[in-house]
Amino acid sequence: MSLRLTPSIRLTRFLRLAPSPSFKLYLRAMSSGNGNKVYENIIVSRPAEGVALITLNRPKALNALSSPLFKELNEATEELDKDDSVGALVLTGSDRAFAAGADIKEMKDKTFVDVYQNKFLEDWTKITGLRKPIIAAVSGYALGGGCELALMCDIILASPTAVFGQPEINLGVIPGGGGTQRLIHAIGKSRTMELTLTGRNFTAAEAEAWGVVSRVVPEGEGKVVEEAVKMASVIASKSKVAVQAGKEAVNAAYEMTLAEGLRFERRLFHGLFATQDQKEGMSAFAEKRKPTWNHS
Ligand code: CAA
Repeated sequence: MSLRLTPSIRLTRFLRLAPSPSFKLYLRAMSSGNGNKVYENIIVSRPAEGVALITLNRPKALNALSSPLFKELNEATEELDKDDSVGALVLTGSDRAFAAGADIKEMKDKTFVDVYQNKFLEDWTKITGLRKPIIAAVSGYALGGGCELALMCDIILASPTAVFGQPEINLGVIPGGGGTQRLIHAIGKSRTMELTLTGRNFTAAEAEAWGVVSRVVPEGEGKVVEEAVKMASVIASKSKVAVQAGKEAVNAAYEMTLAEGLRFERRLFHGLFATQDQKEGMSAFAEKRKPTWNHS
């Protein structure tokens, strides 16, 4: 399909090259001009129809996931999830780092009581409750919480430069944002155990071979974001209610036995026969025309 990139994605690609303060201000102005809220640690833009792009924006700290950053990320994703003009989200960082993990400087002096009583990291899981699909476009470091954040997304696309890993063992801790649990579904026990206990990083090629990412895009500045936006545009062009059901069905496989999952999928499938989009989609096929979704 042909994709018309709006000025903000061209700017975002430029931002990856030269994240100068003046550029960021310009992009922020563009973002706010599109009706998007302006944040301190993330940039929200609309690169194509139906698509929202969230760019993590703490370049000096390699997008380390501080509490204020995550608060903004949760706020933005919650708003975009409710926004009827958005069909799919893309989450990205910079060319150098998707995110280099939880903010170690913020964490280093915390005590057990601090983290336990304040349920540290518990709000990270909010992103997994979104109705709309979210695609991670990963370039550079996706380490620790950065790797875990990518794993919380529905689809991961990687640039050949992407470096994944769970290096928490080197800090005297273990992954706390779901790394051990989510990786095991993707790559099995032995590899998850090796990565968790040695802290070794893995490459984009390994991530693709193991099924952590759906594919590695060709090399090139901003290419992974461009590909993710294209994919998000395709998703946004479908019936929103069917997309939501598809996401729910796939994610159910993480929680359910095969028998329960098959039953759940079938019930969702049955439920879609109550929608106008099912009538439209099947009639359009029979009449050899394109469907027009009304998302109900
Ligand atoms: N937290 C806070 N600051 C970080 C950071 C992090 N996770 N990662 C990088 N930074 C900061 C560095 O401190 C440095 O800041 P200063 O310029 O102020 O010194 C800046 O980002 C650039 O980093 P480097 O100079 O280290 O850059 P590099 O190219 O030499 O190395 C790197 C890059 C290999 C990613 C290295 O920065 C690194 O190892 N970072 C930490 C990775 C890590 O351990 N992540 C796991 C965090 S714990 C976690 O995430 C727990 C969980 O499960 C939720």
